[in-house]
Amino acid sequence: APDISLANVKAHLSQFQSIADANGGNRAHGRPGYRASLDYVKARLDEAGFQTTVQSFTYRGATGYNLLADWPGGDTNDVLMVGGHLDGVTAGPGINDNGSGSAAILETALTVARTGHRPDRHLRFAWWGAEELGLIGSTYYVNNLSSAERSRIGGYLNFDMIGSPNAGYFAYDGDGSSGSGGPAGSAEIERVLRGHFENIGVPVQDTAFDGRSDYGPFIRVGIPAGGLFTGAEGRKTTQQAQLWGGQAGVAFDRCYHASCDTTANINDTALDRNADAIAHAVWTLGGEGGTQQPPD
Ligand code: PHE
Ligand code: ZN
Ligand code: ZN
Ligand code: CA
Ligand code: ZN
Repeated sequence: APDISLANVKAHLSQFQSIADANGGNRAHGRPGYRASLDYVKARLDEAGFQTTVQSFTYRGATGYNLLADWPGGDTNDVLMVGGHLDGVTAGPGINDNGSGSAAILETALTVARTGHRPDRHLRFAWWGAEELGLIGSTYYVNNLSSAERSRIGGYLNFDMIGSPNAGYFAYDGDGSSGSGGPAGSAEIERVLRGHFENIGVPVQDTAFDGRSDYGPFIRVGIPAGGLFTGAEGRKTTQQAQLWGGQAGVAFDRCYHASCDTTANINDTALDRNADAIAHAVWTLGGEGGTQQPPD
């Protein structure tokens, strides 16, 4: 799989920060900073050759939007989806939560286009609205799929908070090794996501696969899913600090849902490793197709 450019991912984060700064300090559902964020992502995808769709919904009297971006080609009866939420809370600009996942999947999609990737499976990227109000956008999307459309989705990868300043390295527990697993196929997704970290020698721990982000609606209808996470309000243990570095007894993200979740609230190393893991998973799970990619 190709290496994802950390500089490019960070350039998208700077754009999200500027959008928040120009729109009352946030990118929340129903606020102008949300729509501006969506317009920024959509413009990058349109110019790269994606087929984009904006799906509108109404929640608490405000219009919300999901953005879907299909990469033409691949087996449309076997769709691999990759998503994250684009909205933030009203308290701040939402750069780690979830500019980080939004920017990393955007740069992965742009890298698919740039390399002329022709995967075996059909790729669909998604940016969800109103996650912070209860997974509203992703639930709306899944609930409005026909049974035929639903049956064509073979897997969903979710990225929500992947640049936490006091980072941990977590994968959703799709194989149930530390709790309850997900739909069949979730174990393979977890294994592939972990594979990138094995390659770079970074240990990964399980995190709950309990539906606390936008994969929830997918696993509820039996779609295999997985994802990565660098931690939120939970505190890093002494053991975890020995494993990964950082500060024991301190939250993975001290600025979780706060005004200080700015571009300063990002661990570049964690963001880079997670972005590369996303590309590894997209190239591995999507199939290498007919393009010649250098092995990683
Ligand atoms: N969904 C949570 C939020 O946006 C963050 C989170 C992601 C928590 C993944 C647990 C696991 O605030
Ligand atoms: Zn949040
Ligand atoms: Zn989040
Ligand atoms: Ca596991
Ligand atoms: Zn790889």
